[in-house]
Amino acid sequence: MAISEEAGASVTEAQIAVHWREEDYIYPSPRFIGQANAPDPAIRERFSEERFPECYRDYADLLDWDTYWHTTLDTSHPPFWKWFAGGRLNACYNCVDRHLAKRANQAAFIWVPEPEADLVQNVTYQELYRRVNEFAALLQGFAGVKPGDRVTLHMPMVPDLPVAMLACARIGAIHSEVFAGFSGTACGGRMADSGSKVLVTMDSYYRDGKILDHKAKADEAVAAAKEHGMEVEKVLVFRRRSGQYLSQTPMVDGRDFFVDEVIADYRRKVVEPVSMPAEAPLFLMYTSGTTGKPKGAQHSTGGYLSYVAGTSKFYLDIHPEDTYWCFADIGWITGHSYIVYGPLALGTTSVMYEGAPAYPDAGRPWRIAEQLGVGIFHTAPTTIRMLRKLGPDEPAKYDYHFKLMVTVGEPIEPEVWRWYYDVVGKREAVVVDTWWMTETGGFMGATLPALEGMKPGSCGPGALGIYPVLYDEEGKVVEAGTGRAGNICIRNPWPGRMLTIWGQPERFVQTYYSKYCHDKQSTDWHDWPFLCGDGAMQAMDGYYRILGRIDDVINVAGHRLGTKELESAVLTVPEIAEAAAVPVIDETRGRVVEMYISLKPGLSPSPDIENKAKAAIEREIGKVARPKNVWIVPDMPKTRSGKIMRRVIAGISNFADVGDITTLANPEVVEAIRHQVYAEKNARGEAPRPLTEKELEEIKAFGRAE
Ligand code: WTA
Repeated sequence: MAISEEAGASVTEAQIAVHWREEDYIYPSPRFIGQANAPDPAIRERFSEERFPECYRDYADLLDWDTYWHTTLDTSHPPFWKWFAGGRLNACYNCVDRHLAKRANQAAFIWVPEPEADLVQNVTYQELYRRVNEFAALLQGFAGVKPGDRVTLHMPMVPDLPVAMLACARIGAIHSEVFAGFSGTACGGRMADSGSKVLVTMDSYYRDGKILDHKAKADEAVAAAKEHGMEVEKVLVFRRRSGQYLSQTPMVDGRDFFVDEVIADYRRKVVEPVSMPAEAPLFLMYTSGTTGKPKGAQHSTGGYLSYVAGTSKFYLDIHPEDTYWCFADIGWITGHSYIVYGPLALGTTSVMYEGAPAYPDAGRPWRIAEQLGVGIFHTAPTTIRMLRKLGPDEPAKYDYHFKLMVTVGEPIEPEVWRWYYDVVGKREAVVVDTWWMTETGGFMGATLPALEGMKPGSCGPGALGIYPVLYDEEGKVVEAGTGRAGNICIRNPWPGRMLTIWGQPERFVQTYYSKYCHDKQSTDWHDWPFLCGDGAMQAMDGYYRILGRIDDVINVAGHRLGTKELESAVLTVPEIAEAAAVPVIDETRGRVVEMYISLKPGLSPSPDIENKAKAAIEREIGKVARPKNVWIVPDMPKTRSGKIMRRVIAGISNFADVGDITTLANPEVVEAIRHQVYAEKNARGEAPRPLTEKELEEIKAFGRAE
């Protein structure tokens, strides 16, 4: 893709790509192929473009429908496509009830608490059925939740979280889970946006050996929602250890209730699953993009559930008798699709782990795998990098055997991929690199594990029924094998795509379709390519290599953080006049954030202001977003039109070349900032390391979306 004129850069991503070595294929073992769900190459045929959209019947037929649909794909209101129109179903019924006949006593979830002395808990399908019904009855009876109402969950990784999600689905309510690591303020903003009057939370949970007071965030959330004009009516508080209250904050009379007390009135209650239209919203998942506040990606019931069931079957190779562990947080889309909905729709056993990956040491994940007999393992590059750094030889010490491993969330470096394959997978497991995003519901690019060779660093071809295309800035197709990069789009609709942005249909069309739509009136889906938001290139074999976001999103350890959100958080500090967030290459977290701020006239820099900036980010977004460094600079490098040139400070933060600065209104400030930042980084022992071509290009191109 072309880099903006203003950025003044002369090299495009296309050119850097040439420097990459093409990796060789690695193939799965005959043993894996012999047991795979998709061993026959004819499956590609079944999902060929000529068979679109009917091919997705294969996915929908994995579910039980109350009413079968009459139209596979209804395109009458572009681009608000409807999948399986006329069909009705209940997601909770499909994930729980229908498995009881065969698997009542099989574990649906195996929950591993962080403290190693605590017992692992099995939640069987039968027990899950009970717990979901009771909580659904409580939501209806005690909290007055009706079909279509939104319920916000701010829950850590405990079984009560999927119980609450499935209970909402059972009664036709829309859940909106906010990652527990996010602040109360961030949660409150999302509550107000979605108009949810009920908050489901927990008193505390374990993380990295500490017990965190989580209920305190509920009070902040209620206050933040109120600031946005939303009155939260009920706060339902689960307890991490029954009978004990491990939070310092008092329960608010008439507003806060312990679930374990209230539920006594709902014991043994059964709630009939509400039959929902296929396109009824199942949940909201807030995510960051180029502008403004996070947007609520609204996912459907029928299309979404079909898509995650189908991709779980063919790409994760889940069989009901597998023990499958996705080491992500349910607070993100990966957890929704591939810890809860996909695996449960297929009736398998899904492992949930409460805590930090390397607690108390880097052997923990492998002990869990050995103890539980995990066969499928799913995690993100940031976790792989961390475990490799802290315990490169740990996996060999444990007797576990994976048949398949997944990586998701960020590009994975070929060296890291190889450690994952050789050491974690012991060269026995197939690796599936799955590329997708919150908006897509499920995988967009990946290799079919028994059929398509693995290529380290590439996610593979489009997933079944997914037809990607690369466009340049002018909308011209960038061909495969040219060594040039483009903006990756999906040409066709697919059942897992979000329906819209909650409450903002125009923003939905604008964000994902306005750039490349051929004809806004057209009801032919061919005119509506979906803009994914990543740069990518395609090799001759059709495999895609993902370069990263083209918007102002910084991917920190797999968390999508918008620069605008970070900057507006910092600007809540009265002393701060301007702020700019930039990514810094980091060995384990992929990228970390550095924040540049300038102060209002007459104020001088102080550690106090630096701390206020960090605290503001923690308060507004959460600890995950805490910047590595905050630099208080005399002035920001700006263009003559007054825009902050992020690529210049990004260059400084990464000890890289800042590129052409002749278009700046104040070029003299660059040397001053460089001098200051280098000196402080030296003092902190943050030594530079040589960046790869790809990393250098990313830094150079940063901020091009402006
Ligand atoms: C990035 C997470 C390279 C990408 C499921 C995307 C990846 C963003 C991969 C979405 C992958 C995800 N290889 N990059 N396998 N998977 N990404 O919404 O930049 O949290 O746009 O969804 O993560 O992040 P999100």
